[in-house]
Amino acid sequence: MHGMTPKNVKKRGSKKTTAPAAEVSGSTAPLNIYAQHADYKKRHMAFPSSAYLRSAAPKKVPLFAYEYGDTGAGADVGIAHNWSAFDNIKIVPRYGALSVPPPVEVELFGKRYSAPLGIAPMGGPSLVWPAADLAMARAAQAARVPYTLGVAGGATIEQVAEVAPDVFWLQLYRFWKNEHAIGFDLIRRAQAAGVHVLALTVDVPMRTTRTRESYAGLGGEFKPTPRMIYEMLKRPKWLMALLTDGYPRFATIGPYAGQSPTTNETIRFARQNMGGIFTWDEIARYRDKWKGPLALKGILHPEDAEKAVSLGIEGIWVSNHGGRQIEALAPSIDCLPAIAAAVGKKATILLDSGVRSGQDVMRALALGAQAAFAGKAFLWSVGAMGDDGPVHLIDLMIEELRASLGQIGAASPAAARDAEIRHPGAWAFRRKK
Ligand SMILES: Cc1cc2nc3c(=O)[nH]c(=O)nc-3n(C[C@H](O)[C@H](O)[C@H](O)COP(=O)(O)O)c2cc1C
Repeated sequence: MHGMTPKNVKKRGSKKTTAPAAEVSGSTAPLNIYAQHADYKKRHMAFPSSAYLRSAAPKKVPLFAYEYGDTGAGADVGIAHNWSAFDNIKIVPRYGALSVPPPVEVELFGKRYSAPLGIAPMGGPSLVWPAADLAMARAAQAARVPYTLGVAGGATIEQVAEVAPDVFWLQLYRFWKNEHAIGFDLIRRAQAAGVHVLALTVDVPMRTTRTRESYAGLGGEFKPTPRMIYEMLKRPKWLMALLTDGYPRFATIGPYAGQSPTTNETIRFARQNMGGIFTWDEIARYRDKWKGPLALKGILHPEDAEKAVSLGIEGIWVSNHGGRQIEALAPSIDCLPAIAAAVGKKATILLDSGVRSGQDVMRALALGAQAAFAGKAFLWSVGAMGDDGPVHLIDLMIEELRASLGQIGAASPAAARDAEIRHPGAWAFRRKK
């Protein structure tokens, strides 16, 4: 239960069912390897959209695990706003030019990926499904899409470098003690591990609470209540995975918390050492230390995006943390057009919060993002399908994206920007300048 390092990690998740790695070496040939895969058809019948994964997940994992991954702040109003913001974006198609699904390879920060779609960083995927971080990393590597390890996640930087060497992005929170000694050591490890993009999360200035998570018995240290133990016993497959893989939380941070610390000791350590918001001065220092592409995650205001770009930040990750901080935050998709207009020519724009389908990815591309990321949908996928979940969800979203782009007559991800689009929620910023 207290194991910090996933055991037997190499034995699981590398099944024959994983789709073959996509070729991304500049080919313009369609990458439609996914739909032709026999397993894909079977999985698609069982889970034809992420909504089906979401409804299956609570039947497969303990309730507290599902609640952790699915909840937002308060009464989930922020999540509802994110989803309805996407749903309200409508596009008028152009016909007569395209009759095969277009290729969707993209270049992000100088590297080719098979689709403008990635996995957002998360702190506790291993709570939803033991060793989920590595299952997601493997699936992303097989499909050649970005996988972002959360610094508070359940796999170490070094483990992910082994299973996802070509698609590895890393997210950092602010370790402020001792002049950022841990933060800078994490940069050293990331550099040695070949991380492609480093993302600093800037949208957690406060520790907020999530109602469903608290009510389910979570928050802070992991102390299973009798109800939680009962929920675990009702989910034997999850329990087996837990016995095989342990409860690998905060794996990357573990070494800083002492010799073989328990999970709760590491959680306590993280709480004492991690927190607060990166100041612009600190961001400049991280910019200096990190030699690769740097992104700021959680930007919603175009002036923050401009400030970031002025400090040499290459990636603006537009996000409201998936509605998990407070409910009143604007949907990131609504802030995207103003941010793209302000810095789109100088920076790579990424977006998350509310992405549930390839169609949503298309909407984000049409409004100025170069790639869109999903968080919760990947947790639903591991909840519903275990290690195979992320493989299926990536296949599904790429299929949906290609069909959506083809439907509106966009011959590439970039061509989505030419679409005739109506976006009622688009934020009109009061600009100082
Ligand atoms: C369970 C969970 C844990 C998360 N933990 C982190 C984290 O540790 N660091 C971070 O930058 N974002 C974290 N996020 C936010 C995601 O990176 C992403 O912004 C968000 O999930 C996107 O919204 P979506 O869930 O609607 O796709 C977390 C999200 C979830 C659902």
